[in-house]
Amino acid sequence: MSEAGKGTVYLVGAGPGDPDLLTVKAKRLLGECGGILYDSLVPNEILELVPDSCESRFVGKRRGHHSLPQSKTNNILLEMAQRHSCVVRLKGGDPFLFGRGAEEAAFLVSRGVSVEVVPGVTAGIAAPAYVGIPVTHRLAGSSITFVTGHEGIDKRRPLVNWQALARACDGLVIYMGLHNLRHIVDELIAGGLDPATSCAVIQQGTVVGQRCVKARLDQLLCKVQSEKLLSPSIVFIGAAVDFQVEACSPSPANVTMPIPF
Ligand SMILES: C[S@@+](CC[C@H](N)C(=O)[O-])C[C@H]1O[C@@H](n2cnc3c(N)ncnc32)[C@H](O)[C@@H]1O
Repeated sequence: MSEAGKGTVYLVGAGPGDPDLLTVKAKRLLGECGGILYDSLVPNEILELVPDSCESRFVGKRRGHHSLPQSKTNNILLEMAQRHSCVVRLKGGDPFLFGRGAEEAAFLVSRGVSVEVVPGVTAGIAAPAYVGIPVTHRLAGSSITFVTGHEGIDKRRPLVNWQALARACDGLVIYMGLHNLRHIVDELIAGGLDPATSCAVIQQGTVVGQRCVKARLDQLLCKVQSEKLLSPSIVFIGAAVDFQVEACSPSPANVTMPIPF
């Protein structure tokens, strides 16, 4: 227990789905924790690593739906930290990348709870890697942007300036981009991105159901619709797609990702 008589909350990245991509530290903490709060994109095989006695709560969010308001999640964490010396707050991918990890950390720290972040393998790099696509290549530019396509739902996030991004970087790794894809593509082309730019969409990267669809930018929406791609998916836009080395792709893990609705 920490000084305030409370346990430590570990903000742990679960990685993109394949349990073999858990960090050594994440795996150790999962085996030791007395309480766990977890999100949507965490396969059961990872949750099975926690002890049977562990107090377990699902607090995941899904597009347009919040199974719990953020304030409730914060309070559950606070309460769990009074009961257990080790609490894991498990988030898909990396907890500080589009995961509200910093908000939860700030809340807990402001109430005297000790918090530690355990970075995870982010889906934006792992999902392309599992189909052999490097997100950078020195012959395809020198910059990359991680960006969310899920904007404006809660109106608290500034809108992404897609037209500016079209000229500002050589590769775009877009999280939660499927629902807004028409707008994203239109804006990027309006901003000057070559309509022939190579793109890839990787659905359910690293796990069962993994699929990759490639198209040029101006045909991407059509392809995504005809192939009926679903969330969770990473949209990657950039010439690095052309440097795909399929032969180095690992097999996806034989685990199922819960599909957000
Ligand atoms: C709320 S964001 C969380 C991102 C996470 N913190 C990370 O670092 O990967 C959820 C989005 O990540 C992407 N994502 C997560 N896991 C994925 C996977 N296995 N395959 C493809 N995309 C994934 C999807 O775009 C999904 O909508």
